[in-house]
Amino acid sequence: MMVDRRSFIRCVGALFGIFMTLPTRLARAKSLAIPIAKAKKLEKAGGSMILKVKGQQVLFIRDTEETIRAFDPICTHKGCTVVFNKDAGRIECPCHQSAFNLEGGVVRGPASRSLKTYDAKLDGQRIVLSLN
Ligand code: FES
Repeated sequence: MMVDRRSFIRCVGALFGIFMTLPTRLARAKSLAIPIAKAKKLEKAGGSMILKVKGQQVLFIRDTEETIRAFDPICTHKGCTVVFNKDAGRIECPCHQSAFNLEGGVVRGPASRSLKTYDAKLDGQRIVLSLN
């Protein structure tokens, strides 16, 4: 089967367009909104909770009235689930006492790698999360 020059150029142009917009499309596809009404513990600063989002656990921490943070709650040491210690203002692992700051960085071992973070922000009464 012969493909004429015009069809070939059209096909290459279409593929180019798909590849150029793919990252944006994927980013948009992974961004989702969660109503605060469904996450009561996040209504006030200092609140935290783990929610299952698109099949994966996400630790949310409402660090101020205006901001929220999101983390993969799996400890980078040996995989226990971390929790937010509001009084200490940091994330702690109950298994071997590793601790992480609110950027996910290690402040106490034995963990040596940061927690994975996700982009999260407040938008009115919703949390907008990007799983990337
Ligand atoms: S699993 Fe978290 S410190 Fe070991």
